[in-house]
Amino acid sequence: MTTNELPTFIRKHKETGIRKDFSRTTLCFLAMELMVFMTLLLLLILVPIFYLFNHNKYNGQLPPGSLGLPVIGQSLGLLRAFKADKVEKWFQERITNHGHVWKASLFGYPTVVLHGPAANKFVYTCDGNLLASSQPPSLTRIIGCKNLMELSANDHKRVRAALVSFLKLEVLKQYVAKVDVEIQHHLQSHWHGKHEVQVQPLMKILTFDIICSLLFGIERGPQREKLLPLFHDMIEGVLSVPINLPFTKYNRAIIARKKLVPMIIHLIQKKKEALMEQNQGDIPHKDLITSLLSIRHDDSSTMISEEEIIDNIIVVMIAGYDTTAVLLTFFVRLLASNKSIYSTIVQEQQEISNSKAPGEALTWEDLTKMKYTWRVATELTRINPPVALSFRRAKQDIEYGGFIIPKGWQVSHNTN
Ligand code: HEM
Repeated sequence: MTTNELPTFIRKHKETGIRKDFSRTTLCFLAMELMVFMTLLLLLILVPIFYLFNHNKYNGQLPPGSLGLPVIGQSLGLLRAFKADKVEKWFQERITNHGHVWKASLFGYPTVVLHGPAANKFVYTCDGNLLASSQPPSLTRIIGCKNLMELSANDHKRVRAALVSFLKLEVLKQYVAKVDVEIQHHLQSHWHGKHEVQVQPLMKILTFDIICSLLFGIERGPQREKLLPLFHDMIEGVLSVPINLPFTKYNRAIIARKKLVPMIIHLIQKKKEALMEQNQGDIPHKDLITSLLSIRHDDSSTMISEEEIIDNIIVVMIAGYDTTAVLLTFFVRLLASNKSIYSTIVQEQQEISNSKAPGEALTWEDLTKMKYTWRVATELTRINPPVALSFRRAKQDIEYGGFIIPKGWQVSHNTN
């Protein structure tokens, strides 16, 4: 075949001398297509086995609903509903069709979804030997297996107490001025002089900046910027179908974790050195990593292992990010749509502002004066809970609402 007989796109590459790269790219695409084909083949074989196994064993006692395709199940539909802000409608359709207890396959695992106050009570008061706190394993692969939600009994208590010590009132009080600086800088850079802004992306930027400052002790600059794309990929992966193929969001999240962990280890090392150089009490505004490193047994060994610090920094980062950004976005939307609430809040904020010198930072006492603002925020959280779903795992067959939740299945309760 002469050069001219080649298809135009190959010829072009041959003429420019980059045919080799092109062939490599073609091979790469072929390999990816092969992988997709193999995955589909595997799914087709697994579907009938999956159905036969589950439906025969529990003989009509499973809740209504469809498990759909393994791995994919209903995750795509749910994620699409999240993106379109139609998650409430998505759940309502299923409640209409199946009632308050139904089954589906979510994030790779068979799941029983429960609704209503009785379900919330059941989940939050259930014995850990019956219903364990456990996220879908695909999620744990991103967050890490030593994260609080995977720990049980004494380990859960120990790590939870360490995290809560960072959120104690006396500690939180120290952060008010620091958060105030971040917010003022944010408003100056992203809001001032603009006629129109997109609130949600900005609330995410603000939340990310505050997380960097409080959790990692990373101030504005190149280090924060290096962290942002990794953080973004992990959040996207948490809300994705858990298929680990080279082009999926899930795969990008796993790669992001691999890149993030050495960065956190480096931070831990630096903070250990700083702690050794200084008297612990002398470090003002301890970030979460420093705070976890400072908690020690009587023999002065650290109470929280390095692995636990890494995974729990990641879990707090993920748990605090979307929840806070979503609540703040709802808050601003309410201010834009409800004149009466808007003017009462402005008045309350104005009174606090008038009591301060120009440029003076907010204090904890100022926050305690924001009574109406706080009530609006808590009511908004009640009406629009930012956490739409949470997961547990059945440690044994459980009877609930006249159905069986099989051992090993996920149990999710929808908080809306
Ligand atoms: C508006 C903001 C927030 C809301 C509505 C919210 C809501 C929730 C809910 C409903 C749970 C329980 C989930 C379950 O049933 O499994 C939870 C757990 C958790 N949240 Fe938040 N959250 C918010 C902000 C934050 C922030 C800012 C942080 C960290 C600084 C955080 C850290 C955590 C952690 C670590 C857990 C797991 C607790 C455990 O397993 O014992 N959350 N959150």
